[in-house]
Amino acid sequence: MVELTANEKENYLNELIELLKIPSISADSAFAKDVEAAAAWVASALEKAGAEKVEIVPTPGYPIVYGEKIIDPNLPTVLVYGHYDVQPPDPLELWDSPAFEPVIKTTPLHPDGAIFARGACDDKGQMYMHIKAFEWMMKHNQLHCNVKFMIEGEEEVGSDNLEGFIREHKDRLTSDVILISDTGMISNEQPSITTGLRGLSYMEVTVTGPNRDLHSGLYGGAVANPINILAQMIASLQDEQQRITIPGFYDKVLELSKEERAEMAKAPFDLEDYKKSIGLSDIHGEEGYTTSERQSIRPTLDVNGIWGGYTGEGAKTVIPSKAHAKISMRLVPNQNWEEIGQLFEKHFQSIAPKSVHVEVTTHHGGTPYVTPIDNIGYRAAHKAYATSFGVEPFPQRGGGSIPIVPLFEEVLGVKSVLMGFGLDTDAIHSPNEHFGLFNFYKGIETIPLFYKNYAALAKE
Ligand code: BES
Ligand code: MN
Ligand code: MN
Repeated sequence: MVELTANEKENYLNELIELLKIPSISADSAFAKDVEAAAAWVASALEKAGAEKVEIVPTPGYPIVYGEKIIDPNLPTVLVYGHYDVQPPDPLELWDSPAFEPVIKTTPLHPDGAIFARGACDDKGQMYMHIKAFEWMMKHNQLHCNVKFMIEGEEEVGSDNLEGFIREHKDRLTSDVILISDTGMISNEQPSITTGLRGLSYMEVTVTGPNRDLHSGLYGGAVANPINILAQMIASLQDEQQRITIPGFYDKVLELSKEERAEMAKAPFDLEDYKKSIGLSDIHGEEGYTTSERQSIRPTLDVNGIWGGYTGEGAKTVIPSKAHAKISMRLVPNQNWEEIGQLFEKHFQSIAPKSVHVEVTTHHGGTPYVTPIDNIGYRAAHKAYATSFGVEPFPQRGGGSIPIVPLFEEVLGVKSVLMGFGLDTDAIHSPNEHFGLFNFYKGIETIPLFYKNYAALAKE
């Protein structure tokens, strides 16, 4: 067992607060200096914790922070991955306190308090647990593995430059297991280990009608309105059973066996709590699958944004020339994101009436990933949670995406263990994102057990 002292807890939290004050929003170039500042902050934190060869490695985008501690070349090496960039905080007016002015408040699920700030859970708080766990292991002479840190600043915008970095620095990154805390768990009473991530195919479409905005009285009824057309096209992408209508979309989807689905269904899930937590009176989704299945083992299609025409104050009678939408699809094994993008484009063009012109472009994508549970990485994590929570963790397929994880395996040949400590209700990417103090400290206490278990299992 690892137990942090009150003093350690206080220091670790105050440091995290400093990091959370830096608005490292990778999507918005107005914050470029802050993203760089967060990288520098992380590098200095790694150095203070006892890491060596700490380096802020530049890339064509934001830098990757590297650091390591090699205690014995014969011991296994853990490569820790995390990200210091965050999602934009908007809509700002929906935050109860400013996104980059961290405050601690209690919530029903976090009676010991939670820290509210953009990035608290995704991923600054969870990434920082690893730096503090490392510091703790150094201080208490408990570091049982070598460790390498690779903390990036472009995860929230698709990790464009990380692939180049891992290809170029393959030798520097040799390791036995990759350890990541950038996912969640079932609840504070029932830990779980994420065993899957969905892939992603992110598209943007533009529908063009007339060559200029038109008076909707003069022309209305006689020409195609691109917004009306786009809305119809989007609506047709799902049928009444909430299945996606793109031909070939499901062809490669790996169906789970009855046994696998029964195993999954053992994880506790309360539909009433679920609905209540997001203010819904009913759920919605693909027929024949449970809510947990819909959000993990099934592919989806969602419009993430739609715009066009007049959206300012008052009313304007206009037929717009253009309408736009951002549409993303979450993918599952064995779908290929590039192929799905092509199927989408072909289908979307084919359903467009001749009265409009349609353009489809691809933003980014990612491959789905499933982690094995019969390797020592997973077993070390399982045992670590069991010890620190006093409850056996469930394996759980996650619905989100971390597109670099499958590339780690492809390029470095190393498997990842997804030891997340957040809760789905922590509002990542939403206003009022938070991370429980219980979760933060428990994470720091659980990580050293992983190193200890991994070293022991590797010896067997
Ligand atoms: N940490 C999340 C991914 C995540 C969260 C996975 C919770 C599983 C459970 C990550 O920062 C993220 O937001 N990823 C993006 C993809 C990226 C390409 C923008 C996502 O899932 O939308
Ligand atoms: Mn993340
Ligand atoms: Mn994220």
